[in-house]
Amino acid sequence: MAKILVATEKPFAAIAVKGIREVVEQAGDELVLLEKYTDKAQLLDAVKDVDALIIRSDKVDNEVLDAAKQLKIVVRAGAGYDNVDLDAATAHQVCVMNTPGQNSNAVAELAFGMMVMAVRNFYNGTSGTELKGKKLGIHAFGNVGRNVARIAKGFGMEVYAYDAFCPKEVIEEAGVKAVDSAEALYETCNIVSLHIPATAETKNSINAALVGKMPKGGVLVNTARKEVINEAELIQLMEERTDLKYVTDIMPVANEEFAAKFAGRYFSTPKKMGAQTAEANINAGIAAARQIEGFLKEGIEKFRVNK
Ligand code: 3PG
Repeated sequence: MAKILVATEKPFAAIAVKGIREVVEQAGDELVLLEKYTDKAQLLDAVKDVDALIIRSDKVDNEVLDAAKQLKIVVRAGAGYDNVDLDAATAHQVCVMNTPGQNSNAVAELAFGMMVMAVRNFYNGTSGTELKGKKLGIHAFGNVGRNVARIAKGFGMEVYAYDAFCPKEVIEEAGVKAVDSAEALYETCNIVSLHIPATAETKNSINAALVGKMPKGGVLVNTARKEVINEAELIQLMEERTDLKYVTDIMPVANEEFAAKFAGRYFSTPKKMGAQTAEANINAGIAAARQIEGFLKEGIEKFRVNK
């Protein structure tokens, strides 16, 4: 009987945990939970006798892998796996997977929640603008970006996208105008929604040179990762360009400075909540449990992200 740990500092909805438990127990395995932990020591203790691990943004580094002597697989219930040290996992012979697409509608919907809030002046009672007829730039056309495009059409927006890795034809087949560079996207669009992962190449890449290309009244929406933003440059740019707004679901390191300097032009959720819906938790959590059972029982490695 394998022991599967769900370790979530930010827990799944209870209904998702129930679904995960059903998958695990039907496969004859045992589910254990570590929710809302506040200290890495709790995680180090909880992983020591488990075969598999389901996480969200929880950090799995060399120390966690060292402590998890029996661990065979980690599934990040979600898209971005920048929180897992892939090389260390490979060195420990631990398979790492994600569950692509399972929470992407939830994240896309939140991007629109934040867009409406920004263009309605954060509900301060003054006249704002509508999304209809505005140019929306989708920066990266993955699962979230595609959902954003679908919803944007319902709002009557003109939709553009740039993705360094996705062929232009794929973007255009989705009824979206593909542009040739990130610069062209920011130059063209009233609102840009970020959907790039945090990688060595993308870290700090959203800088003043790029955001500064946006037309007057530009809104930057970040439901991706805080690491992709060059915070010092964005602060400087927003001081110079008093028309720009920044709304984010990932609290910047410099949150207090953003909040103090840009009242009425800046908003951050207190805790990343793009994927915080029952539906996203059920989809991603159950997919993670199934992927673990498929791997443990049948050696299926679909969605593996490390070597
Ligand atoms: C993801 O990468 O799937 C999203 O950023 C959601 O992350 P979360 O599960 O930590 O909310």
